[in-house]
Amino acid sequence: MRSHAWIVVILILVHLSSIEGKGKCPKRFKKRGCRPLVIPNTVRSGCRPPYKCGDVCRYACVPGCVRQRGATVRTCRYGRYWIGGKRLKCSCSPCTSGPPVIRNANVVWGSGCSAPFTAGTTCSYQCDHGHSKVGGAETKMCVDGVWRGSSLDCDAVQCPTLTAPEFGSLTPPGPHSYPNLVTFNCETGYVLTGAGDTTCQANGTWSNLVPTCTPVQCPARAAPANGAVHPHGPVSYPNGVTFTCNTGYVMNGASTPTCRADGTWSHPVPTCTPVQCPARAAPANGAVSPTGAVSYPNGVTFTCNSGYVLNGAAAATCRADGTWSHPVPVCTAGPCPTLSAPNNGALSPLGPHGYQTVVTFTCNPGYVLNGVTSATCQADGTWSHPVPTCTPVQCPILSPPINAQKMFQ
Ligand SMILES: *[C@@H]1O[C@H](CO)[C@@H](O)[C@H](O)[C@H]1NC(C)=O
Repeated sequence: MRSHAWIVVILILVHLSSIEGKGKCPKRFKKRGCRPLVIPNTVRSGCRPPYKCGDVCRYACVPGCVRQRGATVRTCRYGRYWIGGKRLKCSCSPCTSGPPVIRNANVVWGSGCSAPFTAGTTCSYQCDHGHSKVGGAETKMCVDGVWRGSSLDCDAVQCPTLTAPEFGSLTPPGPHSYPNLVTFNCETGYVLTGAGDTTCQANGTWSNLVPTCTPVQCPARAAPANGAVHPHGPVSYPNGVTFTCNTGYVMNGASTPTCRADGTWSHPVPTCTPVQCPARAAPANGAVSPTGAVSYPNGVTFTCNSGYVLNGAAAATCRADGTWSHPVPVCTAGPCPTLSAPNNGALSPLGPHGYQTVVTFTCNPGYVLNGVTSATCQADGTWSHPVPTCTPVQCPILSPPINAQKMFQ
């Protein structure tokens, strides 16, 4: 019975094709229409109901399904049949696992992206926090058991290039992206002012400003007594100060100490000591006071022994350059007052008379010397004896001869 029915159908088909031919719609079929043809997992296009003889419909698999076999075009014929060969069959396997993991991106769950992952399920991706899209597509679709679509390509957000602070450095070197941490350091002798590190944030900005490296400060230095310092006030590494001593003073110590990296001074404050003048010798027959070395601006005084007279300056001052203001004086024997010869007499030698000079006195004939015959000029400028006097010679009183009488009695 079954083979019999098949034979009838085949005969009818052969008959129809022989009398009409393909693509023909005789008048008697024109009014009749085809019923809508529904094929699972497909979408229809190019035609709209009511379907008349000659209408052409195109079928395609719905998104997520792929054509396995069958025709994609069907034509309404004979007012009743859709011809075009085998029906379209679409394969629509579900995806057995969720959307694949993509580096630096994450799946936006919900809104169509949830299990079970049937064919056509679409899942969206978004870049991770601090990352931005550089390529690829935001979605993947489950197509017949496989997730399809180019993967979203996300890179970490880049932060602007950082420059190391002057007299400092940063690690690690750039370029820097989220969430890099950059650390700053200052060279020896410099202090970091500001934040010691900064982070590249998700929005491409730095969390902290680049700090500055300021030089270490050394405390201000006091000027030494009898000296000066330049400059005044605190000094920063690696600078220094210059010490000077006033005129007449010599420096003992370093004149230009420097401020060291640890904020201390390389040398202590020097001292300024007065210039020393060489000791002065006492003049011959004299003395000097004080004895020994004398320092600026002091001086010495000279004296002569008694009987000597000072020739030159009685005092000398020690000058700023270490020399003496005056030479050592000379003590010469002092003169005694000029002596005058006694009346009716003479002296020798004639003046002026120096120390230890011996003067001899004589009287004229007929005169007798009363006093010393010589005097010596003493150390104190006085004479050892006064000048003598010369008195006339006295004749003796005549006495009458014995046994004679005075004539003039
Ligand atoms: C960037 O992000 C930080 C921290 O989240 C925020 O403080 C800053 O205001 C943001 N800057 C800009 C320009 O959006």
